[in-house]
Amino acid sequence: MQPASELSQFAADVLHGLSARPKHLSSKYFYDDEGSRLFQEIMRLPEYYLTACEKEIFETQTEGIFAAFANCSNTFDLIELGAGDGTKTAILVSHFLKRNADITYSPIDISQEALDALSEKFTAEFPSLRMQPRRGDYFDILRSLKNGGGRRKVLLFLGSNIGNFTREQSVTFFQDLRKVMNPNDLLFIGFDLQKDPHVIVRAYDDSQGVTARFNLNLLTRINRELGGNFDLTKWTHYAIYRPTEFSARSFLISHEQHNVRIDALDRTFQFDRWEAVFMEISQKYSLSMIESLAADSGFAIKQNFFDSKNYYCDSLWQLTE
Ligand SMILES: C[S@@+](CC[C@H](N)C(=O)[O-])C[C@H]1O[C@@H](n2cnc3c(N)ncnc32)[C@H](O)[C@@H]1O
Repeated sequence: MQPASELSQFAADVLHGLSARPKHLSSKYFYDDEGSRLFQEIMRLPEYYLTACEKEIFETQTEGIFAAFANCSNTFDLIELGAGDGTKTAILVSHFLKRNADITYSPIDISQEALDALSEKFTAEFPSLRMQPRRGDYFDILRSLKNGGGRRKVLLFLGSNIGNFTREQSVTFFQDLRKVMNPNDLLFIGFDLQKDPHVIVRAYDDSQGVTARFNLNLLTRINRELGGNFDLTKWTHYAIYRPTEFSARSFLISHEQHNVRIDALDRTFQFDRWEAVFMEISQKYSLSMIESLAADSGFAIKQNFFDSKNYYCDSLWQLTE
């Protein structure tokens, strides 16, 4: 077997995840071209309320968001981590440009498909917008975001992306962001709030099976990129909500005992009948959880924006001293 150091990061992470007990795969790898296309489909599903709620906040409170971002100066740089297709951000950008803001927009995403869709849309809609799309892992790109402090940076982390991190990972991530921020910079984060668990579970197990295809697509990606032989007919997508931890979790369940060979790892993995592979966590928050997360990461909440159902919160943070 190749040592992990000689494998691509993807291969190394798959090796690590499928060698663990229980087995797991990282949701960061969902977003190949097909994964990004499927995620755009998920965002249009009636059950996936998260997108509709954040869109409502942006559509109805754009002026309040603008006032908070601009803070008496119309000049700022928007940097979006995990931008996806940028559909919701376009609502903000459109308003900021109408208000004659002097802005630049730097979307960062690991998926070329997502960045292409975003760039095509933004170039057509906002020909005068200065844009610098960057493809890559935002953990790697972070350090290069440090600037001299001349222009205010507003970092965007939308779509409840943060929910896919554990609390410990969230604090480390925000502390890393803090290191590249100047005192005047801001961080704008989309949090999915706690609500009726039935509503939450439906968002991760939709009636049309799009979320199932989205999860199963990671097995197809392993087959294609790492020479795996996963047979998708042997797997089912399964989503639950753990009300004591306020988190949705998704799994792929193996229907039968079988082996899967992955050539790039020179390994065969055995899956038992009904064995689960953990795929993704989607944490749901209360306001006190958001407050303590901000405090533990070195931030203070400047302003919160809620949708009319109080399902979702976009929280604007500033650095503490
Ligand atoms: C849940 S989607 C949210 C998209 C967008 N922010 C929205 O609200 O619609 C997550 C996005 O983050 C990207 N992504 C996930 N992990 C990433 C990483 N480590 N670095 C850069 N982009 C990442 C994915 O490709 C995907 O487009």
